[in-house]
Amino acid sequence: MPRILTLDDVDVKEKTVLLRVDFNSPVDPETKKILDDTRIKAHAETTIKELSEKGAKIIILAHQGRPGEPDFISLEQHTKRLSEILGKPVRYIDDLYGEEAKRAIRELKPGEIIVLKNTRTYPYERKSKPPEEHAKSDFIKELASVADLFVNDAFSAAHRSHASVVGFAAVLPSVAGRIMERELKALARVLESPEKPCIFILGGAKADDSLKISQYVLDNNIADYVLTGGITGHLFLAATGVDLGGPNMALLEKQKVLDLIPGIKELMAKYPGKIKVPVDVAIEVDGRRKEISIKDLPTEYPIYDIGTETIKEYSRIIGEAKSIVVSGPPGVYEREEFRKGTKEILEAVANSEAFSLVGGGHTVAAVQELGLTDKMSYVSTAGGALIEFLMGSKLPGVVALEKAAERAKKR
Ligand code: 3PG
Repeated sequence: MPRILTLDDVDVKEKTVLLRVDFNSPVDPETKKILDDTRIKAHAETTIKELSEKGAKIIILAHQGRPGEPDFISLEQHTKRLSEILGKPVRYIDDLYGEEAKRAIRELKPGEIIVLKNTRTYPYERKSKPPEEHAKSDFIKELASVADLFVNDAFSAAHRSHASVVGFAAVLPSVAGRIMERELKALARVLESPEKPCIFILGGAKADDSLKISQYVLDNNIADYVLTGGITGHLFLAATGVDLGGPNMALLEKQKVLDLIPGIKELMAKYPGKIKVPVDVAIEVDGRRKEISIKDLPTEYPIYDIGTETIKEYSRIIGEAKSIVVSGPPGVYEREEFRKGTKEILEAVANSEAFSLVGGGHTVAAVQELGLTDKMSYVSTAGGALIEFLMGSKLPGVVALEKAAERAKKR
């Protein structure tokens, strides 16, 4: 667990708190409606509720979408949803650090909450710079001048060295919020000294990320086994010399991942038997699922799932594990015919005694759809930040909190 301070280390009563959360949610491109409020709920029910009950004056900073993209919308809807969840009024201020924002901040009473304008409306928000550089901007200076404390609860944005993520931590006393704390604790449990056997189930489409995670967790003796599925499974299978057939090899080529094969081969040779690849797959023939052994490859049909024998073998390993990380579904679970692999693997994880950490947008959506959320030990709210963490990268948002903690110790 990184050496950071938390809400347990500060008295927030009547303090003006700048709270960075991650409300970034999927948005319907046509109606612009928020499609999922998981992140808003998570922050509301933990950090925001606690700060409000303790009598802090709360200024919420958040982003939504990326400028120029259809999900780049105002935080008004998020504010309304937050107010509903908390059962108390929350004001949306259509200003980020100008006079209107500062007036609203000055008027705040203990326990009250405002949400400022989408941080990504500030043109330099997304410029990746060190905290001290961001801290020189008017945005950081103006808001820091009216606040007592910075609370970073946005673990899922902590991989971005963006102004609102790292800037305030350079100039204000800064601590982690409860979601940040909870994510880091869960991750420490699987990455620092996991109970063994520890397994990583890596699926989904981001094969390059899966390779980096595999390298990190095998080189650092974190994982005993890596079980592969999805496009990751296809690529790792191809690295063993299997020709998957026209459409499947073409997909790997299109995704520009074939040049990862030498690195995968090297890793497999370094850790023999530790990286598992599918022994059978499900292909689509005339719109239906058909399972074939990898001995019957290549195929002219697209592969959309792992097969029954692979599910059995993976479930056996899952059954013996004490720590499990799942990132990326093993198959195209959105299609009924190809849901079996994802469903049965996630059920095996949910039914195991192991500490299970599940993350990534698609994986979490699958877990929710299958009604397994409550049976997992920990479901992360993060996507990219989680992947970076699992690769062993230091997240700028977390590093900024560590530095703030060191500064506080010296005082
Ligand atoms: C996320 O949703 O993963 C975070 O909010 C970061 O968003 P970004 O990838 O647009 O920086």
